[in-house]
Amino acid sequence: MRYAHIVGWGKSAPERVVTNDEIAAFVDTSDTWIRERSGIGQRHMAGAKDSCASISIAAALEALDVANISPSQLGLIIVATSTPDYAFPSTACLVQDALGADSAGAFDLSAACSGFIYGLSMASDAIKAGSCEYALVIGADVMTRLVNWADRSTCVLFGDGAGAVVLQSSDQPGGVLSTILRADGSGGDMLYVRTNFREMPANVAGQDGAAAATAPAIEEAKGIAPGHMYMNGREVFRFGVRILAGATREIIARTGWEIDQIDLLIPHQANIRILESASKSLSLPMERFYHNIEHYGNTSAASIPIAICDAVTSGRLRPNHKVVMVGFGGGLTWASAAVEWGTPRALNRANRTMNRVRLGLANVRSRARRVLRRVEDRVFGSIELSPAAPPAPAMPAPNGKSAPLAEGEPETRRQ
Ligand code: UT7
Repeated sequence: MRYAHIVGWGKSAPERVVTNDEIAAFVDTSDTWIRERSGIGQRHMAGAKDSCASISIAAALEALDVANISPSQLGLIIVATSTPDYAFPSTACLVQDALGADSAGAFDLSAACSGFIYGLSMASDAIKAGSCEYALVIGADVMTRLVNWADRSTCVLFGDGAGAVVLQSSDQPGGVLSTILRADGSGGDMLYVRTNFREMPANVAGQDGAAAATAPAIEEAKGIAPGHMYMNGREVFRFGVRILAGATREIIARTGWEIDQIDLLIPHQANIRILESASKSLSLPMERFYHNIEHYGNTSAASIPIAICDAVTSGRLRPNHKVVMVGFGGGLTWASAAVEWGTPRALNRANRTMNRVRLGLANVRSRARRVLRRVEDRVFGSIELSPAAPPAPAMPAPNGKSAPLAEGEPETRRQ
């Protein structure tokens, strides 16, 4: 029988820290209100050079160091995010390219704040089925880019960050023992961010607007601009309280654990009061709940993997611990996992250094492949049936720097 063990973990949060007082300077709120009603003291905020991919790559590198493996050993990369840099390529592909993980399949997963546990479930199932030996699961979000900074009921709550774990196949019992995934799309209008695809004219021959008219709408017209978050805070709060307790009971029943056997419960970090209510409902003391919301706010898909890293560092998460993780959020979605924590590997500094060298080599290889594709395009020309295509503008690198202009590339990229 195969088991999927968590053997590596890493996190990354943008440098810039935004305090409650800073937000209170431009929105009608206060440090006292935010702390008392949510438990949040500060959050990290992505700068111009940060992107979903750049913080994902940083977290992934840390996780690979702890796992003591090289990127080429990965068979699967999943990035759970609601704030990807592109609709496609996926953030997971950007991570794959940056790491030089040349044996990995890569895709993004959209399940809002439950995304990391969804990804953990997919990856552990792939490992248990024998599809791959190592998998990388990342939860990453730059939530400060989609909150409405004029809406005090949401803008105070969210922050940016990424967390990653490496899973390894093993015949030793333990690791991710069971997972449960759930959804209730009827609650989609409780918490959503609309894209602008729906507004785009469907004017391809013969369709003129029909697609937009028949697309299912999850919301009444609330005047929320595309790209901005809407949340019914009270309803989502009630949902969170119900789910955190209910999903915990369900996952321990499936795993065969009793409630008092849980050494640590790592919940999605949405509001400290949700944890306190679940603590009462489950008769599980608050000391068994891990929380770091005071330092990061709600980082959506990143909140659980960041909490894992901090729990390990602070000694709260130790070998042989029975751990329950519960995520809940937009969709509505929720998910839980029961994990038996393993023994950390000794950090291998040589592998750590090698992974930095490999990162540089992956960058060179990626650029070489891009150049090769351009050369191929020049040499062989366009495919017979298609008209000559203009050269594609180069994608900016995940760290915000633009790739250098190629010969013949439009001048507009210089702006
Ligand atoms: O990751 C996805 C999951 N997300 C969550 O789980 C979030 C769940 N919801 C919550 O955490 C809470 O509902 C909030 C923190 C969003 C709000 O806390 P609340 O205790 O439910 O407040 P409320 O919505 O009932 O509002 C109470 C009052 C209102 O004023 P009135 O109508 O009583 O005069 C709000 O306008 O607090 C006001 N208020 C604020 N006041 C100061 C709302 N936001 C703020 C604010 N500062 N930032």
